Amino acid sequence: MSVVAIIGAGLIGRAWALVFARAGWQVKIYDIQPDLLKNLPAKLQAESEILSRHQLAEDSAGLLASIQICSDLEGALAEADFVQENGPEKLDLKREIFAKLDRIAAPDVPVASSTSSIIASAFSEGLAGKARCLVGHPVNPPHLVPLVEICGAPWTDRNILNKAYDIYEGIGQVPVRIHSETDGFVLNRLQGALLAEALQLIEEGVISVEDLDKTVKDGLGLRWAFMGPFETIELNAPEGVADYFSRYGPVFAKMARGSAGAEIFAPERTQKIAASWKGQLAPSEIAERSRWRNERLAALVRHKAKQKNEM
Ligand SMILES: NC(=O)c1ccc[n+]([C@@H]2O[C@H](COP(=O)([O-])OP(=O)(O)OC[C@H]3O[C@@H](n4cnc5c(N)ncnc54)[C@H](O)[C@@H]3O)[C@@H](O)[C@H]2O)c1
Repeated sequence: MSVVAIIGAGLIGRAWALVFARAGWQVKIYDIQPDLLKNLPAKLQAESEILSRHQLAEDSAGLLASIQICSDLEGALAEADFVQENGPEKLDLKREIFAKLDRIAAPDVPVASSTSSIIASAFSEGLAGKARCLVGHPVNPPHLVPLVEICGAPWTDRNILNKAYDIYEGIGQVPVRIHSETDGFVLNRLQGALLAEALQLIEEGVISVEDLDKTVKDGLGLRWAFMGPFETIELNAPEGVADYFSRYGPVFAKMARGSAGAEIFAPERTQKIAASWKGQLAPSEIAERSRWRNERLAALVRHKAKQKNEM
């Protein structure tokens, strides 16, 4: 049985534990905070029940039985075939954690970081095993949203990247290769572009925050749940993608000339818009709404799995 070491058991780490356990891996999970490890079984139990309820995992008891909680880093890494790091999003901490992981994990074991924004060359530079370090950026929550962006530093071994790709695919995720290090990889660049445009439109009074959300969840997002933007536009012109750009390219070019720039994210501008947002949730309500979101996502993922063979 393959063994994965999950380092950091916060939001993302514990979701990864479920992903690997569901695929039949032995999971060893470690966090620096003992209190967090104490509460981990209850959190894993609640999420694994959502998975079983939607037939996305066999039984939650089996899932939990293959997750071993480790109180020290050495124990978690002892037999690891793959390491997934999920510590805080701070460069100095990533560097510190990766230095330890590289010292302890067996040579040639891929060591992937879940980081959303820190490139692998920033946290692996100078390490003896820098060639086995990479980014494996998931989407929250990875047990329900399968995309993983794989991105190495210029010195990451190609075989390591291929191995990581095969592992992610083998556990049921959808890996994509990011060929060069770029801020935000690809998913967050897309998200950032959409947010920038949304902020500008709201600030200009073109639309309210609530109607902006509807435009995505009851508009673009409905199609995007099962088609990418290129698959979408292929169906929006009689002769496909090239025809679409001949018809609508000039309109998009005109819009792009007035697009939002970096200054739209200036704190005084974003805070003003955030203050106008009526959905201000207390932390306990955020947890409750996240559970609701995960339940709905699970139903959608199940629906997508059932449709897979239709076309
Ligand atoms: N939250 C998201 O939406 C999201 C999505 C994709 C990727 N990520 C990335 O995943 C990583 C984790 O994010 P999160 O949202 O789970 O954060 P989190 O704060 O929930 O979890 C971080 C965990 O790391 C632990 N930790 C701190 N120092 C450690 C150490 N030295 N060794 C072991 N554990 C340590 C903390 O105790 C904490 O439990 C970040 O790099 C983040 O960018 C987050």
